[in-house]
Amino acid sequence: MLKCEQFNKICSALDNCEHYQKFKVYKDKILALGNDSLEKTIAIAVALCLVCAVLVSFSAVALKPLQVHNKALDMKKNILDVAGLLQEGSDIDSAFAEKIEAKIVDLETGDYVEDMNVAEYDQRKAAKDPALSVAIPKNKDIAHIRVKAKFAKVFLVKEAGAIKSIILPVSGYGLWSTLYGFLSVDPDGQTVQSINFYDQAETPGLGGEVVNPDWRALWKGKKIYSETSADMSEPALSLIKGVVDNAKAGSQYQVDGLAGATLTSTGVSNLVKYWMSKEGFAPYLAKVRTDKGV
Ligand SMILES: Cc1cc2nc3c(=O)[nH]c(=O)nc-3n(C[C@H](O)[C@H](O)[C@H](O)COP(=O)(O)O)c2cc1C
Repeated sequence: MLKCEQFNKICSALDNCEHYQKFKVYKDKILALGNDSLEKTIAIAVALCLVCAVLVSFSAVALKPLQVHNKALDMKKNILDVAGLLQEGSDIDSAFAEKIEAKIVDLETGDYVEDMNVAEYDQRKAAKDPALSVAIPKNKDIAHIRVKAKFAKVFLVKEAGAIKSIILPVSGYGLWSTLYGFLSVDPDGQTVQSINFYDQAETPGLGGEVVNPDWRALWKGKKIYSETSADMSEPALSLIKGVVDNAKAGSQYQVDGLAGATLTSTGVSNLVKYWMSKEGFAPYLAKVRTDKGV
């Protein structure tokens, strides 16, 4: 009833509107023209474009909150996955809230930053903000990302107050795209648990095999830093061309390269090296190693 009244109100407002009356006269004139008239064809095409533009704009605005929610949900899913906590059919939001704690780390000092809003901090956005990012000198930019955020958002899995997994965001250029992913490590800050890439555009079947579960499984137990080196800030882990011979010394620092995708493999090697170096998480991991309860 109320809707009907509102509709009538709109109709009478339109009837009193001078522009609408002009539009109606023009519309009737156009519709009276023959179908092969140029003026009618152009007017119909313009009207169709306007209707489509309104529909597209409306959908974009109306669906924005849903898109934002789905993006956040996908991110949580990836984090649970790299932590080995993703279960088919489980509720992602509640599993994430229950098991994962997000923290912000100052990459230079390796300390946690407590006075920033963790929930709102977006490291990828921060990397584009001059106030929150730093340019990477060319000779150090082995991951080819040019700029990095000063603060990283890491995720911890804790059990009875002790850290079980540290999940670190990593990114770097492959062959066609910047790959964004997570590397999860043991609280020793040295042993890899898993890796996953949630955003990349390498060729499916070649570089795109970075998402293949069989290849990802090869990372489990690999060591990041050489155990013989005194300085645990120079990463030793890299991808090799071909298959790793696990019987050989040093194989704990090697992962099979992707077949037919040496360039993406080099990109992955470089991004892991960069983010595990002093430029990335080495200062933080050094602190985690000495203070396991952080
Ligand atoms: C259409 C096309 C797509 C390719 N995509 C990739 C890719 O995503 N990643 C990659 O490393 N190499 C890709 N390559 C292959 C590279 O050009 C290069 O040959 C390869 O990385 C060398 O690896 P290999 O020495 O293991 O053969 C692609 C080649 C073609 C023709």
